[in-house]
Amino acid sequence: MISDETQTKKLPQGDTGTKTVFIKSYGCQMNVYDSQRMADKLSTAGYVETSEAEDADLVILNTCHIREKAAEKVYSELGRLRVARDERRRTGGDMQIAVAGCVAQAEGEEILRRAPAVDLVVGPQTYHRLPDLIARARQRTKPVDTEFPVEDKFAALPAPRREATLARGPSAFVTVQEGCDKFCTFCVVPYTRGAETSRSVAGIVAEVERLAAAGVREISLLGQNVNAYHGEGPDGRSWTLGMLLNRLARIEPVVRLRYTTSHPRDMDDSLIEAHRDLPALMPFLHLPVQSGSDRILDVMNRKHTSADYLRLIDRIRTARPDMAFSSDFIVGFPGETEEDFEATLRLIEAVSYVSAYSFKYSPRPGTPGARMGDQVEESVKARRLARLQALAEGQQRDFNQDRIGRTMDVLFDRKGKRPGQIAGRSPFLQAVQVEADETRIGTVASVEITAMGAWSLHGVLSDMPAREAVA
Ligand code: 5AD
Ligand code: SF4
Repeated sequence: MISDETQTKKLPQGDTGTKTVFIKSYGCQMNVYDSQRMADKLSTAGYVETSEAEDADLVILNTCHIREKAAEKVYSELGRLRVARDERRRTGGDMQIAVAGCVAQAEGEEILRRAPAVDLVVGPQTYHRLPDLIARARQRTKPVDTEFPVEDKFAALPAPRREATLARGPSAFVTVQEGCDKFCTFCVVPYTRGAETSRSVAGIVAEVERLAAAGVREISLLGQNVNAYHGEGPDGRSWTLGMLLNRLARIEPVVRLRYTTSHPRDMDDSLIEAHRDLPALMPFLHLPVQSGSDRILDVMNRKHTSADYLRLIDRIRTARPDMAFSSDFIVGFPGETEEDFEATLRLIEAVSYVSAYSFKYSPRPGTPGARMGDQVEESVKARRLARLQALAEGQQRDFNQDRIGRTMDVLFDRKGKRPGQIAGRSPFLQAVQVEADETRIGTVASVEITAMGAWSLHGVLSDMPAREAVA
């Protein structure tokens, strides 16, 4: 839906010269990617990025709606921005304020009613239209564009800029799939991001080749339900994620491939075989299960049992024995009993995760879960969450501890915590700090792990060559 509202104030700002934009990203990695692509698009309209909202001619809040209070956070941030904008107006400047992302999609016009300082609202499928929306917002209208358009957003976006890619480091996100058709009963995504769509193989290959040429060494493919990927291949047929990964593994010098987030039901044979066949595909998989109780899984509409999930984990481990898993969990879904919760703990014991993200169930308006009776009390949710997190943190500690004395390849992607240190990620996404020269950032090296800190592992460069191919 596109609509305009009358704007009461005329903005004094002209259309010429360099302008600054500050983009704040909330929520998931796809929002981080979308924010980067917005910056790419806006650079074609003369905008450069700034790291301070107060210095910006345009501020974009790229919002998340997955759990409660996300919208409230956005409204309080908008209150602060209004003050910053008024301050800029006092000194002859101005600030346009845009709300993007899933709160924009879900709330639309409501945002303009609750926060009159907002100049425009743009959903996740139409941000390629930002320059046009900004221009319209200057002409006394307040555009709200939350369409699911027929045109291809990715075709309308410019290629990622080389300088920006270099500045963002050797690890990059690429969205390959959007939307979700699963309709888990707790989740807003099918409503905010719409039906599943996949980008074409050709478009993804072109983007990855460009990123690789600019120095990117690790690509994380993103999708709300990424392993349901079914984009058009160069042969005109629908390709699976496994086929896409096989194609991307041929692009040199990318050395690492990852993908997130997957649904257990969509882990097909081609994807499991890709884990067996492609050394570049990292042995780490985020595979949310949400609950270990078959009764709760059924009410959540997950379409699998805990035994199905455990069998799947076994199959993936058979294909790639060093595979490490992470998952999302929801505690206190409506009707969850102590026994259901115990089943979740048993499943966690059975899998042994290297990391876990766990949440108290929060009823999202418009989803079936919000209308279910038998909502679980907050204090019960809090108690269960603490137990689950204690178990998962223990597993994570054990896994990290177990690395000490071993060597692992690390892709260095930033400066370390202290001078003289650089930091990177292991194949299992663990943060690793090493004393080494900054010139190594952007490369992979073999590191012997020597100690475990609170937030990261510590290691020393090893004499062994990295196992992962180096450019
Ligand atoms: N309440 C709590 N957690 C939720 N998630 C999604 N919707 C809700 C909700 N209504 C969690 C799920 C999902 C992750 C991204 O967020 O665990 O996998
Ligand atoms: Fe939400 Fe994921 Fe379920 Fe889709 S599969 S409805 S995105 S939790």
